[in-house]
Amino acid sequence: MVKKSSSGPANGLESLFVDGLKDIYYAEKKILRTLPKMAKAAQSEEVSAAFEKHRTETEGQVDRLEQVFEMLGKPARGKTCPAIDGIIEEGSEVLEEYKDEPALDAGLVAAAQSVEHYEIARYGTLIAWAEQLGLKDALPLLRETLKEESATDETLTKLGESGANKRAMQAAA
Ligand SMILES: [Fe+2]
Ligand SMILES: [Fe+2]
Repeated sequence: MVKKSSSGPANGLESLFVDGLKDIYYAEKKILRTLPKMAKAAQSEEVSAAFEKHRTETEGQVDRLEQVFEMLGKPARGKTCPAIDGIIEEGSEVLEEYKDEPALDAGLVAAAQSVEHYEIARYGTLIAWAEQLGLKDALPLLRETLKEESATDETLTKLGESGANKRAMQAAA
């Protein structure tokens, strides 16, 4: 059993933790809707496949968050996250401005990495807080997701370096 929020102060660490969960839950759901658009827009098959693969992983991440909410006895509910809205908005601009340009995939990879870095920061914090709160059952779930976000970030780095960035140079040729 995890501790109930009633055991701590109303605006204490558990409250921060729950707010953080709502924030990333909103973010994951938004990412889930965005990744198919990015996969469709990507010019190279490998970049498209990476977005598609992460979309599937993101479904599992949403599911894990719902499990954590359940452990806390809280309804799974998102809270508008202006940070992820802004990061995704920037990605949409790249998508429009570089449509049919050789630099499109390099731009999409970079936009996706901004998303992953945001998620890595958030999950890192949630893990630290879950440890502090003694939420032992939540830890493996959050760590599993953090591992996927980090692996995705590394994949994107490789995709940029192995092709997308070079193809983007064709713009200057
Ligand atoms: Fe995620
Ligand atoms: Fe992610």
